Amino acid sequence: MTTQPLPIIIDCDPGVDDSIGILLALGSPELEVRAVTTVNGNVPVATGTSNALRILELAGRSDIGVYRGCDRALLNKPLAGKFHGPNGLAGLQLPEPETNASTQHAVDRMAQELRRAGEQGTRLTICTLGPMTNLALLLRLHPELAAHVDRVVSMGGAFRIPGNRALTAEFNILADPHAAQVVYSAGLQTVLIPLDATHQAMTTPQRVAAMSGPGRVGQAVGQMLAHWDRNDVQRYGARGGPLHDPLVIAFLVAPALFETSPAHVFVEHGNSLCQGQTVADWYNQSGEPADAQIVTRIDADGIFALFAKRLQRLDPAT
Ligand code: RIB
Ligand code: CA
Repeated sequence: MTTQPLPIIIDCDPGVDDSIGILLALGSPELEVRAVTTVNGNVPVATGTSNALRILELAGRSDIGVYRGCDRALLNKPLAGKFHGPNGLAGLQLPEPETNASTQHAVDRMAQELRRAGEQGTRLTICTLGPMTNLALLLRLHPELAAHVDRVVSMGGAFRIPGNRALTAEFNILADPHAAQVVYSAGLQTVLIPLDATHQAMTTPQRVAAMSGPGRVGQAVGQMLAHWDRNDVQRYGARGGPLHDPLVIAFLVAPALFETSPAHVFVEHGNSLCQGQTVADWYNQSGEPADAQIVTRIDADGIFALFAKRLQRLDPAT
């Protein structure tokens, strides 16, 4: 019996790693991308929206709608991204998109897709690869639609290692800590892939070579990753950079390559030194439900082998 592909929405701020995450999803028949929604993050939302259109066209999937979302966080001022370059794709030049983003707002599209899932008797998985502003607004505007969310699978946070944009905060959470707190207090089933996990997924030269096939997708991925190297073996334990967002997609396609621990997640959202810190209640001390699965370990070699195979599917002629 063939199983139906898992319906997902990808909410993102593309962004180099967001773009590779989108491509990985497009190369994975286990998934059905119902919409790509964009949010201010690594780059302004207009740039991220254009990049999402370009990446979908690169993969020949302009049939998937792109919906522009919030151009700033709920309260915090914009936080500039790093390592993505001024165009958000590390300088990769892709043609001007031939298609346009929808005029429908991302939050309205999320709501529409969740209602559709409800009518179909199914539920949606929402993948957040950037700040959670759009999802937080969705939950505040349409709390009843949470019933049609299967899981929220997110890249974000840091628990047992330092932050990457503040001492204790990871970028996606710090960029909109109030939105993250709304999401993690909504009672949804969530999976969180923090820096603790993504720093195990380093884009070493061997792994980049395996992902940079001769086709146009492989070459685009190789060009973006050429600028992803942090060149800091002491901090990361290897050359390359942590390939954050694609792990969200890999988790859905190959969960056996990930180890998780249950916890409740709190987000420090006050104006403090630790704003944006994610705090896990691993032992139910708070009395809050352990509704998050936090990824603690990954099989990096297995994941990068999956990346290479799935990206190859997008360049069939080669
Ligand atoms: O901290 C890493 C996260 O911030 C990734 O999602 C990256 O794209 C940036 O948005
Ligand atoms: Ca991102």
